[in-house]
Amino acid sequence: MSSYAVRKTPGDTQWFRRDRFGMFIHWGLYAMPARHEWVKSFEKTPEAHYDLYFRHFDPDLYDPRDWARRARLAGMKYAVFTAKHHEGFCMFDSKYTDYKCTNTPAGRDLLREFVDAFRSEGLRVGLYYSLLDWHHPDFTIDTFHPRRDDPDALTQNQGRDMRRYARYMRDQVTELLTGYGKIDILWFDYSYTGDNGAGDKAWQRGKGKDDWEAEELIALARRLQPGIIIDNRTDIEQDLWTPEQYQPTVWMRHSETGELVTWEACHTFSGSWGYYRDEQTWKSPDMLIRLLVNTVSLGGNLLMNVGPTSRGYLDQRACDALDAFAQWMKYHSRSIYGCTMAEPDLLPSCPADCRFTQSEDGRRLYLHLMAYPFAYLQLKGLAGKVEYAQFLSDGSEIRFTEGYINRYSEGTTLTNDVLVLELPTVKPPVPVPVVELFLK
Ligand code: GLC
Repeated sequence: MSSYAVRKTPGDTQWFRRDRFGMFIHWGLYAMPARHEWVKSFEKTPEAHYDLYFRHFDPDLYDPRDWARRARLAGMKYAVFTAKHHEGFCMFDSKYTDYKCTNTPAGRDLLREFVDAFRSEGLRVGLYYSLLDWHHPDFTIDTFHPRRDDPDALTQNQGRDMRRYARYMRDQVTELLTGYGKIDILWFDYSYTGDNGAGDKAWQRGKGKDDWEAEELIALARRLQPGIIIDNRTDIEQDLWTPEQYQPTVWMRHSETGELVTWEACHTFSGSWGYYRDEQTWKSPDMLIRLLVNTVSLGGNLLMNVGPTSRGYLDQRACDALDAFAQWMKYHSRSIYGCTMAEPDLLPSCPADCRFTQSEDGRRLYLHLMAYPFAYLQLKGLAGKVEYAQFLSDGSEIRFTEGYINRYSEGTTLTNDVLVLELPTVKPPVPVPVVELFLK
């Protein structure tokens, strides 16, 4: 059995660790400037100008069934949608604000259509909810706030009341968790207690769990949706650890107990989360597949982001990237779903430039070839342990020898414990080939 003990938490993380792969969706008004979802903060956009986006937001080509179908074909099993991002704009029909999609030319509850479409495509549904809010009148101006450098910023802060804002969040989370059926994941974002204004801007301190009244917020969510998975970004560790835009090199652990935790790496296709028209840093298909493999080989999940356009469709670059996953997952999902890090005693057998994953029942070991080697691939310690080997892409046999290489020159005798795979010279036409090893 390849069964690692993972830290138990109130949320139901079992399905999550089995499903391994999800879609992140960052969609909001920031799709219109199309130069980063933080544009309002980066450019300190005047309110009157940002209001133009509100008045002209018209996603006439929004077809969430198309998104859902593409996600399913890419092999994704769940999706997390930005109900509200830092800009404060609500993609759902909240009764606690006018700053919502129903009051724009969109004229309808975009979240509801997302939820319905993804569920009917068989995907689980998660919601992202920003703790930051650059529109709400009670959210105090801090070091990231678009109004931070206004000459009267400090005066503007007078009368702002974070306690009222915390109640607003609880009211909205209640709407989200009671009005849209079963929500599997709640993804709060994020805390920044260490980020403070400097010098005479020292009053612009960052925010954390006390500002969000996070304990109350979390208790509310758990009461409304028992089993829901909650991330760790309220500044209180919960069910899910969320390394962002980097590739962990070890299975993540709890900071105090040292236990292995449920974790999910989140990545973008091109660098920003929201639609960014001119971004040129799109990841290659090879890199995308390697991100997924690396993550699962360390017992983690991958949440891969799309930033839809303001008209509501996924642009060609995003479709192509999803397609890269679709083509690979069609033949290789067996090495991803229900798989995890290989058992500790097998790990040393993994050759250079390769990654293992192992099935839940421990019977199959998946060898991912990140760089394609020439002909004889030696796996030390695996002799006597493998019954049969094949490429996962086409189910074709990979012959092997044990303790020696099947060539006629001298000096090809190896230590008895080495298993030697005989690989074809030509790499199968996939970004990362996988050898499926059936263990005895
Ligand atoms: C960061 C960013 C945000 C993005 C998130 C996704 O915290 O502030 O724009 O939504 O990461 O993980």
